[in-house]
Order: sequence, then C-alpha cells, then structure tokens
Amino acid sequence: MNPILRLCRYGYPYRVGFALAVIAMLIYAAAHTGRAYLFKPIFDEVLPQRTGLAWVVSAVIGLSVCKGLAEYFSVYLMTGVGERMVRDLRSQLFGRILAQSAGFFARRTTGGLMSRITNDINRIQQVVAHTMGDLLRESATLAGLAGLLLYQDTGLALVCLTGAPVVVYPLVRLGQRVRRSTRRGQEELEHLSHISAEAFAGHRIVKAFAGEQYEQQRFDQASERLYRMNMKVTSSVSALPPLMEWLGAFAVVGVLWYGSREIAAGDLTPGGFSLFVGAMLLMYAPIKRLSRVNANIQQARAAAERVFETLDTRSEAADKPGARRLPPLERSIAFREVSFAYDDAPDEQVLDRVSFEVDAGQVVAVVGLSGAGKTTLVNLVPRFYEVTGGSIAVDGVDIRDVTVESLRSQIGIVTQDTVLFDDTIGNNIAYAAPSASRDAVEVAARAAHAHEFIATLPAGYDTLIGDRGQRLSGGQRQRVAIARALLRNSPILILDEATSSLDAESELLVQDALAKLMLNRTAFVIAHRLSTVRRADRIVVLDHGRVREIGRHDDLLAATDSLYAKLYALQLFDRDGAGD
Ligand SMILES: Nc1ncnc2c1ncn2[C@@H]1O[C@H](COP(=O)(O)OP(=O)(O)OP(=O)(O)O)[C@@H](O)[C@H]1O
Ligand SMILES: [Mg+2]
Repeated sequence: MNPILRLCRYGYPYRVGFALAVIAMLIYAAAHTGRAYLFKPIFDEVLPQRTGLAWVVSAVIGLSVCKGLAEYFSVYLMTGVGERMVRDLRSQLFGRILAQSAGFFARRTTGGLMSRITNDINRIQQVVAHTMGDLLRESATLAGLAGLLLYQDTGLALVCLTGAPVVVYPLVRLGQRVRRSTRRGQEELEHLSHISAEAFAGHRIVKAFAGEQYEQQRFDQASERLYRMNMKVTSSVSALPPLMEWLGAFAVVGVLWYGSREIAAGDLTPGGFSLFVGAMLLMYAPIKRLSRVNANIQQARAAAERVFETLDTRSEAADKPGARRLPPLERSIAFREVSFAYDDAPDEQVLDRVSFEVDAGQVVAVVGLSGAGKTTLVNLVPRFYEVTGGSIAVDGVDIRDVTVESLRSQIGIVTQDTVLFDDTIGNNIAYAAPSASRDAVEVAARAAHAHEFIATLPAGYDTLIGDRGQRLSGGQRQRVAIARALLRNSPILILDEATSSLDAESELLVQDALAKLMLNRTAFVIAHRLSTVRRADRIVVLDHGRVREIGRHDDLLAATDSLYAKLYALQLFDRDGAGD
C-alpha cells in the first residue's frame, strides 16, 4: 500500500476536525477569489465613473476579514489534525518497537531505533501538520481563481493554461529525486544517531583507549554524507520556484498578446483585463507554495516507508490463536530435548537436545564454562527467544501454547548485566510491582541487603541514580536489581550471575537471603561461587550446549571423569563460603 495513503488513514479518527478545516479552506478560497473579482468593478466603474465606491470598499474589507478568519481556523484545525495523527503514529511505533523480540534488538542499534522515533517522525510531522493544509488550501484557491479566469474569458484562460502540462513532468522527476535522497539522508541520520549514542554510552572506554579521534572521524564521515544528501534534496527543491516563475512569465506574455488583441476588437473591457492580470498575480503565491508540496510529500513518503517497515516487522512470537493463560506453577518445569540456534548462525547449535526437569520449589544450578550456553538456556524460559527444537513445558503445558504475558508474570529475573533506569532507587525496585507500598519496597531491599547502603544516601529511596544507574557501584546496582526481582514475588526466579559483583561477605549475606526466598520458589541459578551451587537441588552441567551431567553436588563430585569435578578442581568456582 502507498505509504502516503496509509498515513492518511491515521486521520480517520479526526475526520470531524478535518471536515471543519476543509470548510474553512473553502471559505478562504472563495474570499480570495471574490477579492480578485473586485478588480473588474474597480477598473470599469469606480475609477472611470466614480460610482459604487462605498460597496467596493466594504466588500474589500468584508472579504479580507473573512479570508483572515478562515485562514486562521483552517491552519489551526488542519495542524491540529496533523499533530494528532503524528502523535498516534509515534506512540504506535514506540509500542511496536518495544514489543519486538530480543533477536530484533540484537540486530538493531539503540541509536538507530531512536532515530526512527524522532527524525523520521519529525519529517512526517512537517508534512502532515503543515504541507497537507497548504496543499488543500492552495489548491482550492487556485481552483477558484482558475474558475474566475474561465468565467471571465475562456479563450484567454486557455491561452495561459496551455503551459500547465509542461510543469508536471519536472515536478514528478524532481519529486522522485527528492524521495531517493531523503531516504538515504534518513539512513545517514540513523547512522549518526547510532554513532553518537554508542560513543556517549561508552565514554569511559573511548577516553581510556584514547578513541576520541577515531569516534570524531567516524562521526564526521557520517555527518559529511548526511550533508551531501541534504544538499541533493535542496538542489532539487530549490529548483522548483524559479521554474514556476519562468513559466509564469510565459503566461503573462501570452495574456498581454492575446488580451491586447481582444481589447482592440472590443471583446474585453480594460476592467476585465485588469481582473485577468490581477487574478493571475494572485495565483502566483499558491503556485509557488504548491510547487514545493510534492517535494515535501516525497520526503514524508521516504520517512513513512521506513516507519511502516518497522511497524510491519513482527519478530516477537505472537500468542497463538486460542493461547490460554498459564495457571500458577504447581508441579514442574521440564526441558524436553531443547535445541536452540541464534538467527544469525542457524547451523550452530548453542543448545543441543537439553533435557532435565525441575520440580516446583526446587533450585537448579546451571554451571559450565563461559560460552557454554547458560544464559541462552535461561532466556528460553520467559520466551525471550523461542526454542528451535524440542519444547519447554510448565506443568506439562508447552509454553508456546500459553500467553507470553501470563508466562512472564510468573517470572522474576536478575540478568547477567544489570539494567537499571534513570529514576529513584525506590522506583527502580518498584518497577517489578508499581503498586507496591513503600514498606514492601523496603522489605525487598532489606532481603537483598540493599537497605543498608540506601539508608546512608542523603535522599534514601528517593535518590536519583542516573542513566543506567551509573551513580551506584557495580555491587550496589546488583543489589537493587535483586531487590527488584524479589519484590516481584513470583513463583519462578531466574538469577544469572546475580551476585557476581559483590564482595565475598555481602555475597554470603545476599545468598543467605536468597536461599530463604528460594525455599518455596522454583529457581534457575547461574553462579560461579560454590556456596549457591552446593545448595542446589539439582546441578545441570553444560558443555558446549550439551548436558554433560545432572545431579547433586556430592554425587557429581564423586562420579568418575566428571566435568563438574574438573571445574571444581580447577577452582573455577570460588570456594568462598563453601564451608568445606
Ligand atoms: N544474541 C546472540 N546472537 C548470536 N549468538 C549469541 C547471542 N548471544 C550469545 N550467543 C552465542 O551463544 C553462545 C552461548 O552464549 P551464552 O551467553 O549462553 O553463554 P554463557 O554460558 O551464559 O556464558 P557466560 O558464562 O560467559 O555468561 C556463545 O557462543 C555466544 O557467542
Ligand atoms: Mg551468561
């Protein structure tokens, strides 16, 4: 579907405002045309015969007032419709991007996606809010004036309209160029936004490795390309008004030649001729504005294409038709021959026929070397990624048969890299349960041993922690993230290296608290310290995506040729708090 037509559909809810704007435009065009018509009585009666001055003057004033009011309302109403359309589109785009899968975000850049929400939407906004109004208002005005010309003198009107078709071809060609250049320009803008977002977020590394010059160069190159694209657009767009002007000059010559012959023959009064020339002059402004309209629309079209592409990407597994709500976990979670490969390397099995079962209320520890697939394994439980083989079942129900929302509502998670938001500590913890009371937040913070450090902060729970929580230490961030997961109070808990940034002592304290909390929860724990692993009801040892061993600590340690014993011997687990 044509992106411009599709864009228009966003205006449907605001059709009443649109209709009123159109009425105002028609009044505007009529008043404009009416003023042009006054040239005739002015030159034929008022000036030579000194009659009718009063009514001509009042008509001029009346029409001007009418035209002014109609212009104000048409602009106000039309802009209102456009702004509301863009607001809806922007909000839909944000929602749709946020709903995309983990794989979608892995392939795109944050800066690039932000550019779509800001730069592309801005391009569309310019057109929808302003150009659309221009187009309708000026077309109506032109139609009115052209009608007046035809009514006054058909032959003369046809003479000056003969040039019109000549205009269309360059307009269309230039429009195409504008669209292509705009699209490339928006891509450059996206790239620029990505480069800056990345450099700012990684400012420490940039400085530490003296990467400023490299980043500056990358930025300048992209900026240069953007500049070239913008100049291409400008060279096309600026060519239009002079083109129109030249054409206008031909029309004037034609009218003078034909008109003077008609006056000589007595077919036309000087007043009629003045009306004609006056109306032509009045047509000049609308034509000039209209000549840019097509270029602007082409720019919006390029941006709209990009926005709709994103809107049409559906990467998140939609709920199956008839998907049920998942009832609260009662018996077990089972991995059945689960295989998984990431989209960008479909042949590389990151997980290969992984099978194991966890009873409700049990703790499974997942251990293995770096890159063994531990994080990937736990990411499959909340369906951040979909299994590519086998299945995961909760109480015997395949998680693909239930709604994603009901599944995730049962899961609390602490991810391997801590994600916090630019907000207060209290609100960051309460993110898990926005309706939670301050007391509940504090209980969670105490359990995560975060309360101690929060209490020493000047603003306590109301302390703002900055972008990605960068005003906190790594260990503090992790404790806030744990408190957040605990507040969720969900039957399933996923802890991916949740305590890796804590010192041995605080880790021990947090582990204790976690152990208590995990008592009546089903937990997946990835940890590199033995204390947690030892206590687990079941240990899954992963090796290159395959399950090597499953069992309890003592059994695995005793088994001959066990990878677990090897990891243990290599001290790959810290023995802090192991108690042995
Ligand atoms: N988004 C992704 N796209 C493609 N490949 C990925 C992606 N994430 C991880 N991988 C690959 O999958 C494999 C397993 O990664 P995973 O993060 O599960 O390891 P891990 O066991 O959690 O390691 P660590 O202990 O270092 O956290 C790695 O080889 C990694 O390169
Ligand atoms: Mg990991």
